[in-house]
Amino acid sequence: MPVVVRTSADLAALRSGGTVALVPTMGALHDGHVQLMKHARALADTLVASIFVNPTQFAPGEDFDAYPRTMDADLERCDEAGVDVVLAPDVETVYPAGPGATVTVDPGPLGQVLEGERRPTHFRGVLTVVAKLFGLVRPDVAVFGEKDYQQLVLIRQMASELHLGVQVEGCPIVREADGLAMSSRNVYLGPEERQRAAVLSRALSAGVAAAPDGVEAVLTAARAVLDADGVAPDYLTLTDSDLGAPVPGQEARLLVAARVGTPRLLDNVGLVPHPVDPHPLENRPAGEGA
Ligand code: PAF
Repeated sequence: MPVVVRTSADLAALRSGGTVALVPTMGALHDGHVQLMKHARALADTLVASIFVNPTQFAPGEDFDAYPRTMDADLERCDEAGVDVVLAPDVETVYPAGPGATVTVDPGPLGQVLEGERRPTHFRGVLTVVAKLFGLVRPDVAVFGEKDYQQLVLIRQMASELHLGVQVEGCPIVREADGLAMSSRNVYLGPEERQRAAVLSRALSAGVAAAPDGVEAVLTAARAVLDADGVAPDYLTLTDSDLGAPVPGQEARLLVAARVGTPRLLDNVGLVPHPVDPHPLENRPAGEGA
């Protein structure tokens, strides 16, 4: 079983001088987390996983109190994945002056779009706690899931722009057999909602299949699958890998967020939308060469 520590002093006592990888989590660990940990295991001498349900990334009325807390099962999962140390800090360790009186990290313009538009304080809370965890653990590398793709891009940007000296790595989404992206919040899905929830990954697959026909075709194909199931997305968008405008012929991200019943689900996939010739050979205006 991993050693469980609660403070930076406990962590310092365990520091061996080798390299350190960190997998930050809020617990309620599933197979997706185990994959992150297994990936991180190979990157450093010591593997630290943090388990901390961070109050500042939940807005009033969101699910902070209801968020699943499963520490005993989480420790088994960490053990299975080869974690050496679990950092499970108290709120006072992370927020000595209280969560409402802390220094914060402003995510900048990218924190205001997509998820940030619906949850305006969310990424400030995420970046603040991740910066604090980086400060507590001082890892060489930190690993995050691609499931929360905007979060990954913002953390990468923060680490680079604030020169935090941490390499940030993303890991592919782990999916259930029907395609649903694994998430700790999937426990909120009722049986009927759970059946319908795979519509998001089916929409993304339709988008990937349409990639040879260009950017518009990707969005049209994905939207058609959502429409057929009566799901109105909060957003369905194609961006480049850094959440800027997509460039045909280059790696892009198709992102979706939608409520399926009450729970709100996120998903995304990488693809390359092909540049589409606006004048294919048979439709070319007369006189235009091949
Ligand atoms: O993705 C999560 O579980 C959380 O947002 C993170 C990165 C652990 C910060 O609390």
